[in-house]
Amino acid sequence: MGAVTSTFIAGVELSKKGLGRPIGSLTQLQTIRLGKRYEDRSPLIKDFVPLAPVESLVFGGWDLFPDDMHEAAKKAGVLDREQLEPVRRELAAIKPMPAVADPAYLRNLKPVHSKKGASKWELARQVIADIESFRRKTGCERLVMLWCGSTEILPNRAPCHESIEAFEQGLKDNDPAIPPSMIYAYAAISLGIPYGNGAPNLSADIPALVELAEKTGAPIAGKDFKTGQTLMKTTIAPMLKARMLGLTGWYSTNILGNRDGEVLDDPGSFKTKEKSKMSVLDTILEPKRYPELYGKFHHKVRIDYYPPRGDAKEGWDNIDIRGWMNMPMQIKINFLCRDSILAAPIALDLVLFLDLAKRGGMKGIQEWLSFYFKSPQCREDLQPEHDIFIQHLKLKNTLRLLMGEEVLDHSGLDYYDPERGTPTPAPAPRPKAAKGKKTLAATR
Ligand SMILES: NC(=O)c1ccc[n+]([C@@H]2O[C@H](COP(=O)([O-])OP(=O)(O)OC[C@H]3O[C@@H](n4cnc5c(N)ncnc54)[C@H](O)[C@@H]3O)[C@@H](O)[C@H]2O)c1
Repeated sequence: MGAVTSTFIAGVELSKKGLGRPIGSLTQLQTIRLGKRYEDRSPLIKDFVPLAPVESLVFGGWDLFPDDMHEAAKKAGVLDREQLEPVRRELAAIKPMPAVADPAYLRNLKPVHSKKGASKWELARQVIADIESFRRKTGCERLVMLWCGSTEILPNRAPCHESIEAFEQGLKDNDPAIPPSMIYAYAAISLGIPYGNGAPNLSADIPALVELAEKTGAPIAGKDFKTGQTLMKTTIAPMLKARMLGLTGWYSTNILGNRDGEVLDDPGSFKTKEKSKMSVLDTILEPKRYPELYGKFHHKVRIDYYPPRGDAKEGWDNIDIRGWMNMPMQIKINFLCRDSILAAPIALDLVLFLDLAKRGGMKGIQEWLSFYFKSPQCREDLQPEHDIFIQHLKLKNTLRLLMGEEVLDHSGLDYYDPERGTPTPAPAPRPKAAKGKKTLAATR
């Protein structure tokens, strides 16, 4: 119940009352093109796929501190106090449940509102009981869990991560390789509840929890919301590669002063974040395939905790590139962003899309949601997809597939030569769902 969560929930409550717009949310604002360009069919995504309406969402959560959501939003200081006033009652009614805390994984915050239990197994049972009680109290038909808690220190991969049995035994034995975020993830997934991870923590990204998700039918997605600097990086880097421009160095530095910044001031938590931020360039630029252009670039990422800035983070990127005849050039980016303002719409989209995935019978890793993450979770033998444009295409094509619509390859050849590319039918009525394929159209 920190900055991202309180900004997300306050925004949803304001938009329920028509007092704010969900800018940045694909599920609320974006359209999706269907069929050929001359057909002029571009419904809003929310009218095309059967998403839960925003008005139906209700919220609960856990925190290490007992502040209610209104208090948390005021402390986070992302939205103005006057902006929060019309939803004060709704926010104040959301009180955090006591957290699963472990100081070994989070050094810079001192928990004052946490569960007691003889073992991690016991703590997981308590989280499961919390979820059941939330379901009863609210009368919710369906649930989604989204981790918006602090960045934990990364545990080393351990035998207890490798299978469901080993993980459950690890919970019972208080295995030190199980951090709190894995306990929450286990609780949700064991109930078949979709789980998304907004932090770079491993959480559900271990074989044991992937196996459990497939068994219980829970869709899972992570890790680490793609907001400020990495959003820029995964937008600029594909352009450099598409134009075959070389990269000599990329220096990124940030200042931020919110609680997230305080947590990341601890070298252990920073290491987790750094790993997540560093991985994107190699995967996009493929140095092994293009050693001449990307074989030896210098990549540095810094985050400095600077309290006066609060949530209004400032990021600088200096990018040294090379062009024709190896001539050096530079790109400078100075992004004065607001972290939680960029993260809140991602939280909303993930909740709605994970719920959609569950109803569509999709289980386990949801790679089509990579668009939203800095370190997209994918099958262990695959490279994650970091290029934001491919991620966007993947997301929209998955929605088309789910609804039995034609997947767009964007070659466009068939507009000019019917012999090539996907055959172009004359403008035709909307295609029916492909026979034998599972689609969501029937569940509308
Ligand atoms: N703000 C962004 O744009 C952004 C972008 C990418 C990722 N993230 C990640 O999202 C997470 C949340 O960011 P934020 O800015 O809201 O941070 P925040 O510090 O404001 O909020 C995190 C909250 O999690 C709570 N918490 C920590 N451990 C917990 C536990 N075990 N159980 C329950 N609660 C716990 C903390 O008390 C705090 O209130 C962080 O991990 C951050 O790295 C944020």
